[in-house]
Amino acid sequence: MARVITEVSTAAAALRRGELVAFATETVYGLGGVALWPDTVARIFEVKGRPTFDPLIVHVPDLSAAQKLVTKIPPLAAQLASRFWPGPLTLVMEKATQVPDLVTSGLPSVAIRIPSHPVALRLLREVGLPVAAPSANLFGRVSPTTAAHVQDQLGDRIEWILDGGPCAVGVESTVLNIPENGCPTLLRPGGVSLEEIEALIGPINQPAEIALTQVESSPVAQLAPGSLPQHYAPLTSITVSDLAAPPSPGRWGVLAFRDCPHADQYAAVEVLSPDGNLTQAAAGLFAAMRRLDSQGLDGILTERFPEEGLGRAINDRLRRAAFRG
Ligand code: TXA
Ligand code: MG
Repeated sequence: MARVITEVSTAAAALRRGELVAFATETVYGLGGVALWPDTVARIFEVKGRPTFDPLIVHVPDLSAAQKLVTKIPPLAAQLASRFWPGPLTLVMEKATQVPDLVTSGLPSVAIRIPSHPVALRLLREVGLPVAAPSANLFGRVSPTTAAHVQDQLGDRIEWILDGGPCAVGVESTVLNIPENGCPTLLRPGGVSLEEIEALIGPINQPAEIALTQVESSPVAQLAPGSLPQHYAPLTSITVSDLAAPPSPGRWGVLAFRDCPHADQYAAVEVLSPDGNLTQAAAGLFAAMRRLDSQGLDGILTERFPEEGLGRAINDRLRRAAFRG
């Protein structure tokens, strides 16, 4: 089992020795290792069972650390950074040579984020080196939003978990590609909503909305190798539908937004936000998926959330969780 700790200095020292540390961020827990050391980065891929064509996000504590990882910060990126960093936004920019190719899966660009969780920020400052961190789950599975979730899936594969409590945002960061010239592209909806981004910089490209069946062969798949159609999946099959009744006999679970009108027909019911608050729903999403997944159900039924604010990120994760290729 991994050791669950709260001392940032212990975690920072472990990272500097080349060990892996799972740590809290405001979005989900990350599986961290020093991004500049290829051996360490290779272990991140190995521990997660992640294909090396899917690049990692590099985490830094401030803009000057970010600057060292890219050829330049385009003006639009600077504008976004000053509004949303630290926070749940990842910017993809042209990489500097010092970023190992393994981190970016050979792409000429690198994904960078300054997280806002105070524990993550203190850790990054103490390490003093950029930290590559994918979500701390097995590849393709549900992301962890508590230290216990990390322990469940990766506890026998890593040494340390830096506990910072449950993640407040609950879905991963928004990933935006920022070309040197031209319009940014939304590669993954996440913790900063499209509305907030467009209010600041105007309309952006959203090929993330293309049908999932097209995703693998589409240009965005090359731009965002992580946008695989099946992802975020519980082991129990999940269906996006209406919640009128279980689709077949058996023990079904429900993952509902505000309420579940026929709750008595289901073996397990999770309601994410009785008040209809999408931010609250996102914060509880992955934990609810895990609870349902642990009950040996025949299937999980969920609904389409409003396609606005954090609802876009929730729908994206649910579509991928439901996808059976
Ligand atoms: O909230 C988050 O972003 C969390 C926390 C730990 O920071 N991290 C996270 O990492 O979700 P991961 O590895 O699960 O997702 C990273 C996403 C993937 O879809 C990957 O393909 C994309 O970012 N990505 C990374 N580098 C990229 C690059 N150079 N170009 C395009 N997409 C990139
Ligand atoms: Mg992930």
